[in-house]
Amino acid sequence: MNSRPLLLAKIMTKQELLQTARETLEANWRAPGFSVPSGRLYPFQWNWDSGFTSIGNAHINPQRALREMETLFTGQWANGMVPHIIFHSEKETTYFPNFDFWDTTVNAGAPQRPKTSGITQPAVHGFVLEHLLNTFPDDAATIATVKALFPRVVNSHRFLYIYRDPEREGLMFMYHPWETGRDNSPLWDASMDRIVIDKGTLPAYTRQDTKIAAADERPTADQYDRYVHQLELGKRNGYDGPGIFAESEILIQDTLMNALLIKSNASLIRIGQRFGFDVGELEEWQQQSTRAFQQKLWHEELQTFVPYDVRAGAQIAEREIGSFTALSAGIASDKQAKILNDYLQSLHDRGFYLCPSFDPDSPHFDSRRYWRGPIWPHMNWLIHDGLKNYGFGKMAEVVRNDAIHLIREFGFYEYFDCQKNTAPDLTQGYGGDQFSWTAACLIDLIET
Ligand code: DGY
Repeated sequence: MNSRPLLLAKIMTKQELLQTARETLEANWRAPGFSVPSGRLYPFQWNWDSGFTSIGNAHINPQRALREMETLFTGQWANGMVPHIIFHSEKETTYFPNFDFWDTTVNAGAPQRPKTSGITQPAVHGFVLEHLLNTFPDDAATIATVKALFPRVVNSHRFLYIYRDPEREGLMFMYHPWETGRDNSPLWDASMDRIVIDKGTLPAYTRQDTKIAAADERPTADQYDRYVHQLELGKRNGYDGPGIFAESEILIQDTLMNALLIKSNASLIRIGQRFGFDVGELEEWQQQSTRAFQQKLWHEELQTFVPYDVRAGAQIAEREIGSFTALSAGIASDKQAKILNDYLQSLHDRGFYLCPSFDPDSPHFDSRRYWRGPIWPHMNWLIHDGLKNYGFGKMAEVVRNDAIHLIREFGFYEYFDCQKNTAPDLTQGYGGDQFSWTAACLIDLIET
């Protein structure tokens, strides 16, 4: 169960906040050179968590920021995939599903060590590398690491374009909600409902997460059965076989995953141009992806970007946080950007903290449960970045200040309630505490 960290006083000064953020990142650093997202709930290296953590660490420990990315890529597969978890310790038993359950020996290109999961996560690495390079443009160690990782990051994008875009549309698909980072978003409900669970064939398992975080802040038991079902589907197909596209009931071209891929493509193109690397392949992907994103993922009626359910052959008509990542990736037209900005303004005017992870007016909204409503600091980081780029400075400041306010009031948690009228009854945030990307994004939001 959560407990309020002793370190937190009710009102922390900016310096105290930064100090606690530094202590959080220090406490979460592990051999051989990475940050756990949160020591008890997520005791290994998570892919996109590491990216955001590097961005924060760059301000206080640049060497660690670089090391974090290098360590992540020690888990890269021969097919280019960067897995969503790298199990640097094989002795840690407080997480499910651990490396033995994933059993990546089904794919000859998976590294024997470190052990990893068999699915991926949003492609943040290109823009993280560019962020590090922009922060230290003349630093020899940064330049060397960026140059060494560049081809590996390009190869991770190639994996997505080859294995996750079999019809060559320019949009990658995901088949496991954990890949999107937004595990239990209502976006995936209809696809999840298509899965028929046969308890007789589903392997037995014991959840660990609900022993550490409150059960009503986490995905449900039915959702976990479906996560395990999808894991087994991946495993049966060697985690990259064509059977995934042929069989999976969950087959979705997600907004956030494709937007961050496009954002990272753009970063890689700029990095490549600086160092004289060939960027032709990246430019082709980028052109096709940007066009396909615009054509397929804008929902005319809702006036927002939405994921596309490939299995159902239809857009998923919901307002949700992934839409706003199109700003950070520079995909939205000026008109679309204004519509998204105005929507955020309307939520702000109605007394919500920004940015709720799911439409507060939807019957599926749940202000406590993980990705069905709460606010996530790294999403505020991305949306702040996007709003600024389109010149919406006022709303960018609201998004930045809300993240800082929530962390200051409720601690360095994983996620937070978005309802201002609920806040007076709360003493802490939700999910895991002493959270790395919460600390890291706070540092960057304060320092830049
Ligand atoms: C979890 O364990 O909740 C993660 O989100 C899956 O990666």
